[in-house]
Amino acid sequence: MSNKRRSILAISRLPLLVFSLAAPAGGTVRSARALCFVLLACLSAGAGSASGQSAAGKCMTCHKEKSPGLYNQWFMSKHAMHNVTCIDCHGAERGDADAFLHEGALIATLVTPKDCGACHAKETKEVDESYHATAGLILESQDAYMAHAVGGYPAAIAGCESCHGAKIKIDPDSPNKLARESWPNSGIGRLNPDGSKGSCSACHTRHSFSKAQARRPEACGKCHLGPDHPQKEIYEESKHGNAFFTHIDDMNLDADRWVVGIDYFEAPTCATCHMSASPTQPLTHDVGKRISWTLRPPISTMKENWRDKRKSMQAVCTACHGSAFVDGHYYQMDGVVQLYNKKFAEPAGKIMKTIQERGLLENPSSFGNKVEWTYWELWHHEGRRARHGASMMGPDYTWWHGIYDVAQHFYFKLLPEARAFGDPEVDARIDDLLANDPFHQWMRRPTEEIKADIRSGKMQRFYEDLFQPAE
Ligand code: HEC
Ligand code: HEC
Ligand code: HEC
Ligand code: HEC
Ligand code: HEC
Ligand code: HEC
Ligand code: HEC
Ligand code: HEC
Repeated sequence: MSNKRRSILAISRLPLLVFSLAAPAGGTVRSARALCFVLLACLSAGAGSASGQSAAGKCMTCHKEKSPGLYNQWFMSKHAMHNVTCIDCHGAERGDADAFLHEGALIATLVTPKDCGACHAKETKEVDESYHATAGLILESQDAYMAHAVGGYPAAIAGCESCHGAKIKIDPDSPNKLARESWPNSGIGRLNPDGSKGSCSACHTRHSFSKAQARRPEACGKCHLGPDHPQKEIYEESKHGNAFFTHIDDMNLDADRWVVGIDYFEAPTCATCHMSASPTQPLTHDVGKRISWTLRPPISTMKENWRDKRKSMQAVCTACHGSAFVDGHYYQMDGVVQLYNKKFAEPAGKIMKTIQERGLLENPSSFGNKVEWTYWELWHHEGRRARHGASMMGPDYTWWHGIYDVAQHFYFKLLPEARAFGDPEVDARIDDLLANDPFHQWMRRPTEEIKADIRSGKMQRFYEDLFQPAE
């Protein structure tokens, strides 16, 4: 929506504002003054805004009857309280790809970050700079290959794109100009016809658009769950989730200001750690600002400026914990991430590479061979679970759903499947690992000897270096 359009709307909204000021008093003097304003507004803005004004009022009158649920969500919202009406968000320009004529007004059903950004510039800029905004671009990745080749188009739409965001397609024959295969969609990195990325209602459920709702872990839980990124489950099992659900009435979720440690203190939510204000930093809509590791890829690496990012997260923790406690957490977490990297992910990756380079795979297509699935689940599901569990205090995900699964499938799926090719180079690689790598030598030694090494602390020393923060 252009600024010109917005200013016309602002004027056309004036009578409504005046009406709402005048209504509670109900006195004749006030009403008369209101009428004056209405006339003034109409006169100064000309005929264009007069039709804009009547259209704006009609939206609510009719929708109150035709879609009362939607109307009431809006009516109870901060937007209604501040006279932000249907047409402020849905009003469209001639030339907008998704504009259509509706009850005499040019509107669009989509309300993109660009539209919200006319009034919320800061939040919109931060969303646009965040990793979230890139989530719709993944469709070229190997994951999307899996969706389209192994699964099929309908699953890509209702699955992947529902979380990541679809590229919204225009269909001139559709009543709202939106192609059914790409809308409804409120994916986090949706590619909108106006060039903007994302969808604010991914977290801010319409039409209440309330902060209280977005502060809850459920706001993130639609996407951040399941076998490959179980943040919701990890949070629920953690002491933090525990404390949140136990003390939910003390969380002050409806407060306008929400600074951790001051306005609430019983527990952090996802938003607290990744977005919300702490005593020393403001709220940000860029969810990557406080993260030091990449915990998604086959092998984790440190992010750019990771020290600053880590400090920002730690500044949240220290609202409730001492800094030695927080340092201890990071020490333990770095240990698990690097354990996964060094003991399992790196050798597994090398074995897979050798298999590919030697041309051993029967089917030429990606994911056409069992060993590819084994490797995939090892890093994409089990390895991520271990890393996410350790970073967000979920011990069951760190071990039973994490490193335990990684180890079992490394030793008893990946290695046997790799050996089944009968290739001398692959076999040599595996033999070398089991014979010479201190992490893996245990397999060929007697149990009693290993137990003695655990008791003496020798076994633990193999792992000491892993706790050092990586560069
Ligand atoms: C006279 C009644 C009436 C008025 C006035 C009206 N609407 Fe609607 N509108 C409807 C009905 C009924 C539907 C649902 C149509 C359907 O179910 O297919 C609708 C649908 C919509 C949709 C969804 C369209 C889609 O198919 O995706 C939007 C957005 C919308 N209205 C916004 C507005 C706005 C903004 C205004 C004011 C400019 C407005 N409406 C005025 C009755 C009205
Ligand atoms: C603060 C901005 C905002 C306001 C105000 C607003 N809407 Fe919406 N509306 C949205 C967003 C965002 C969507 C989701 C569209 C998308 O996916 O881009 C939406 C979707 C819709 C839809 C289609 C989705 C569905 O569930 O059927 C209708 C209909 C609709 N709005 C009607 C209205 C009406 C009527 C009003 C006024 C009572 C209104 N809206 C006020 C932002 C707004
Ligand atoms: C339930 C919601 C959901 C579904 C369904 C889903 N994803 Fe994801 N995906 C996510 C989330 C959340 C992340 C980020 C996880 C993290 O950071 O731990 C992610 C991460 C990714 C990544 C890694 C991005 C990166 O830069 O490292 C790719 C690629 C990806 N998904 C592709 C897909 C594809 C393709 C599909 C369908 C086959 C799919 N996803 C299905 C939610 C989903
Ligand atoms: C990843 C989820 C998420 C997305 C996406 C998101 N928000 Fe938010 N937003 C939140 C949370 C959580 C809060 C409340 C944080 C708090 O109060 O600590 C919030 C708060 C806000 C606030 C209140 C700010 C304040 O200072 O009180 C506005 C305005 C807002 N969001 C607008 C937007 C707009 C516009 C978009 C799209 C461009 C958007 N949000 C996308 C999660 C999200
Ligand atoms: C015409 C201007 C305007 C537009 C367009 C607009 N907003 Fe708002 N929004 C406001 C005003 C005014 C407030 C109330 C004052 C404040 O909190 O900043 C508000 C408040 C909010 C809040 C805080 C609500 C709370 O619980 O305190 C959120 C979240 C929000 N808007 C999100 C959105 C999203 C998402 C969109 C687009 C779908 C949007 N807004 C479009 C003006 C607008
Ligand atoms: C509609 C789905 C969806 C919702 C809702 C959602 N996310 Fe995400 N999130 C994703 C996807 C998908 C990714 C991976 C991004 C990519 O592939 O580009 C991601 C990535 C992230 C990342 C990693 C960012 C980085 O820079 O590496 C964080 C942190 C995150 N989300 C936190 C949150 C929080 C906190 C909330 C709730 C307030 C939330 N998300 C809500 C889908 C979602
Ligand atoms: C107590 C604070 C805290 C809470 C609560 C929390 N997280 Fe995290 N989160 C972290 C830390 C710490 C990391 C790892 C940071 C690093 O790499 O330095 C992390 C990492 C992540 C990542 C990045 C994963 C990747 O693959 O790179 C995502 C996504 C994420 N969290 C989402 C969530 C969601 C969703 C919730 C709520 C269900 C949540 N977090 C709750 C602290 C928290
Ligand atoms: C709003 C306050 C608050 C914030 C912020 C917070 N925590 Fe906590 N944390 C708690 C509470 C309460 C407990 C439970 C203490 C107990 O076990 O008695 C807890 C427990 C823990 C535990 C112990 C888990 C266990 O199972 O014993 C760790 C580790 C932890 N927090 C780390 C962090 C880190 C790291 C951050 C920042 C990324 C953080 N916390 C942010 C309140 C908070």
